Amino acid sequence: MVKIGIITGSTRDARINSQVAEYVLQKAQSMNVADAEFEIVDIKDFDLPMFNEMMPPAMANKEYSLDENNRWSETIDGLDGFIFVTPEYNKAISPALKNAIDYLGAEWSNKAAGIVGYGSTLGVAATLNLRTILSNTNVATVGPFGAFSLFTDFEEMSSFRPAEVHNATIQAVIETTVNWSKGLKSVRG
Ligand SMILES: Cc1cc2nc3c(=O)[nH]c(=O)nc-3n(C[C@H](O)[C@H](O)[C@H](O)COP(=O)(O)O)c2cc1C
Repeated sequence: MVKIGIITGSTRDARINSQVAEYVLQKAQSMNVADAEFEIVDIKDFDLPMFNEMMPPAMANKEYSLDENNRWSETIDGLDGFIFVTPEYNKAISPALKNAIDYLGAEWSNKAAGIVGYGSTLGVAATLNLRTILSNTNVATVGPFGAFSLFTDFEEMSSFRPAEVHNATIQAVIETTVNWSKGLKSVRG
């Protein structure tokens, strides 16, 4: 059994992120993937302040000074893989998502991740930015990725109405993330 966290990528009160995260969760659950369970992990729930730990997380051995971060650490540590749902802010991921990733080290390591991006230019620049960031924490990002357009997959840029064409790609993101997450379990021992 692998546990996959669908990680939200925006904390704005008016974010459209939650709709995309819910869609990924429903798609994953409807696929009845063997030996895999899925849950949404909302970074907004953790109230992480702008990074303020004593030690760089890579050197912290999962021991942190902030209560918020200890809760975040336990949650990410308990997952085998991730599907990040990321908006694009100035050709990168949001500062909230970067901050949440920065807070941890070993909890991410030797796990797999899929990426589902969205934005006026499909979130592609954010997806590539996220691949680079995750490579530094030993997260293996799968090849297929979601790329939703603010103009054609959202009504009035706010209500998520994904075009049918995305179905197969999102399924491939989910399937590959699960398969790689199962494989990487043996690397973690
Ligand atoms: C500060 C900021 C910068 C943005 N930069 C980009 C961008 O570089 N490329 C893009 O496609 N969309 C960009 N957008 C549009 C966002 O993708 C869009 O507002 C989206 O709704 C943000 O996701 P959220 O609502 O879940 O926070 C930007 C939005 C903001 C607020």
